[in-house]
Amino acid sequence: MKTELLLPDKDGIARVVELWRKGGLVAFPTETVYGLGGDASNGNAVARIYEAKCRPSFNPLIIHVADLAQARKYAEFDALARQLAEAFWPGPLSLVLPIKPGVELSPLVTAGLDTIAVRVPENPLAQKLLREFGGAIAAPSANPSGRLSPSTAAHVMDGLAGRIDAVINGGACAVGLESTIVHPGSAPPALLRPGGLPVEALEAMLGQKMARPDDPDQPISPGQLASHYAPGLPVQRDVTAPDPHAIWLGFGPNCGASARNLSHNADLREAAANLFGMLHELDGMAKKSGAKVIQIAPIPNTGIGAAINDRLSRAAAPR
Ligand code: TXA
Ligand code: MG
Repeated sequence: MKTELLLPDKDGIARVVELWRKGGLVAFPTETVYGLGGDASNGNAVARIYEAKCRPSFNPLIIHVADLAQARKYAEFDALARQLAEAFWPGPLSLVLPIKPGVELSPLVTAGLDTIAVRVPENPLAQKLLREFGGAIAAPSANPSGRLSPSTAAHVMDGLAGRIDAVINGGACAVGLESTIVHPGSAPPALLRPGGLPVEALEAMLGQKMARPDDPDQPISPGQLASHYAPGLPVQRDVTAPDPHAIWLGFGPNCGASARNLSHNADLREAAANLFGMLHELDGMAKKSGAKVIQIAPIPNTGIGAAINDRLSRAAAPR
């Protein structure tokens, strides 16, 4: 794949939006770092984000929207969340909030969680792109996993040329450091990641100290902050001959009797896009049928298959 380098003009912006609408991946500047953006409602596009970064696991991603009105289509804002958004958006703050029920978001964006991290970037080019696109763009930093976050279009090209559709060059990022992530729903509100918005500014507005997840004096209830979705039932992997009383999640063309199939064509990208939605569905089916275990067909451990297996091995680990 040839990665297009786009200029931040009318044609460049139109091209980015066209690529996003088609499920393409385009890196774009925010004031923190360049993000690797794809349509958050398109599971295939989100799977491609993980693939392009060679992420060995599915971390939940941040969605990017143009303003608070747009953000409210995707997430539930209580009074405190609204206050934070009004004070610091647009800007380098991401809020982790409950997902609005029924909203069009691929479950792969949140790795199956029922909360979503939302950000309204201030960078003028990011603003134009998001306004023009009109929906939510999922975007982790635009670097291969384990490498430094990119603050110029050249950094993005160094790391991801040939793996993504385009980069739009908006110059250097003003902040150069990822957004600060806050979970306002904890009591007290929790700082999940320090970043471009100073903690002091947040705490001054809140009128209190925030909890830190690693602070023994102010533990955060794990339920509020579960960083990983786990199915309710035990999970067994690499099953080729399922138990008749189990719920079977198939992969590939030879899983005729499966309750769901991650990909009939054995396409790993499709399987990744389906993973969390199907696990949720199987949990629901299990409650109705009284099944005691979810059994899963073997998944090849290549490419994005490694991230799928990482997730399944956690789900299968004894609890
Ligand atoms: O500045 C930034 O935030 C950049 C630019 C591109 O916007 N983006 C970024 O995304 O740093 P990423 O994917 O590298 O980091 C997202 C982090 C994850 O590591 C995860 O810890 C946290 O956000 N996160 C996302 N959703 C979450 C959720 N529902 N609950 C808790 N943490 C979440
Ligand atoms: Mg990152």
